[in-house]
Amino acid sequence: MTVKVAILGFGTVGEGVYQTIQSHAEELTAVLGKKVEVAAVLIKNDQKKRNIDPDVLITTDFADILRLPQLDIVVEAIVDKEPPFLFLKQAIQRGCHIITANKEMFAHYGKELLTLADEHHVSVGFEATVAGGIPVIQTLRQLLNINNVQQVQGILNGTSNFILTEMREKQQSFEQALKLAQENGFAEADPTNDIEGFDAFYKTMILSRIAFGKEPHWHEVEREGITAITSELIEAAVKLGLRFKHIASIGLVGNQIEASVKPILVGKEDPFYHVEGVQNAVNVYSDIVGRITLQGPGAGMYPTASAVIEDLVYVCQNAPSKRRITSPSQEESEHKSGRQSKCWLIYGQKDLPYHPLLTKLAYAAEGAWIIRTHKDVIEELAEANKSLIYFPVLGDYTADLADKALIPLGF
Ligand SMILES: NC(=O)c1ccc[n+]([C@@H]2O[C@H](COP(=O)([O-])OP(=O)(O)OC[C@H]3O[C@@H](n4cnc5c(N)ncnc54)[C@H](OP(=O)(O)O)[C@@H]3O)[C@@H](O)[C@H]2O)c1
Repeated sequence: MTVKVAILGFGTVGEGVYQTIQSHAEELTAVLGKKVEVAAVLIKNDQKKRNIDPDVLITTDFADILRLPQLDIVVEAIVDKEPPFLFLKQAIQRGCHIITANKEMFAHYGKELLTLADEHHVSVGFEATVAGGIPVIQTLRQLLNINNVQQVQGILNGTSNFILTEMREKQQSFEQALKLAQENGFAEADPTNDIEGFDAFYKTMILSRIAFGKEPHWHEVEREGITAITSELIEAAVKLGLRFKHIASIGLVGNQIEASVKPILVGKEDPFYHVEGVQNAVNVYSDIVGRITLQGPGAGMYPTASAVIEDLVYVCQNAPSKRRITSPSQEESEHKSGRQSKCWLIYGQKDLPYHPLLTKLAYAAEGAWIIRTHKDVIEELAEANKSLIYFPVLGDYTADLADKALIPLGF
């Protein structure tokens, strides 16, 4: 018996999957009890030279693939939404398991594909859509057997993390760091998806579906990129013992999902503090185990191929889907984000007015303060002073985080 696979797309991911199926043929046969064979590859440009075995069908027409006498799994590693979605729909209707690396497509059409797959008794693998080689989907699936997941947070976009790291370590401007990311192949010619947070947003919606069985309304999710982070802000944060990270968060508040994708400050004690360059990391908070942190390569040929191959094993073994909605466990009122007291870095105001709900924690010379207050209060301040910028600090800020450059506390 052989498992016949078609790979749609032969770019970074598609080629990585093809090569890994060849290089790990023995391991796959040992685990599955069957040989895995690539039967066909779909490409767009038939003029490009490819390193593909002559027995494999190479085509620009998906209908050729659907006509194969045996086809068990379709792996999709194309860009854009519509052609891939339509291809996968047809693959499911033909009775194939599907695996995708395409987060934009899966964030938009994942629900429809999962429903269709259920109807046709086939499986959907999408590990590679979130955090590349980090097995976050499998970890969540496994955890959800008994644990209730309460919150998931992640650095999900390697490009923006690379830019923030370069800006801090080499005192570069945003533009210089972006150019370097493009020269190194970490950012597209049009970097909008990465630096404006769309890529991380799509991944967050996919995580929400797996962790909580549903998504928030997309238009209600706060999505902010990293383009407003200046060298001055990075420097002020460093003086306060903090680092900017672009963090996606999703959690249950009562029975509502709250999600955001935005720059957040983290201190030395936070696992995200040390996640640098193109690395990704995910924190999962659940009721029995507490916090789990996964860190690793969020993109690249072989890390992403690793996620696809793990999915290939998963769909072949046809593990039943464990998606379910976690029951609300905490008092909704306690968690209304506007009422919750948190730490913030605010920038652009020398003197802070007295407010009974505001505690000043630290001050850096550049007019950057760390305060603890409610979101409503921060919004009031920003309303009164339009030049004020503010960013949340993850966890509780303690003064010993700051280095000697900090003007002593004494409020
Ligand atoms: N790169 C990563 O590290 C990474 C990590 C995780 C997820 N992903 C996701 O994986 C997907 C693929 O990424 P990639 O980096 O491998 O992209 P890529 O290097 O640009 O390759 C895209 C491939 O898709 C083919 N293609 C594009 N449009 C097509 C169409 N309409 N019909 C048939 N083939 C088509 C291209 O064909 P030609 O070769 O003929 O041009 C190319 O082989 C994307 O959705 C991406 O978001 C990528």
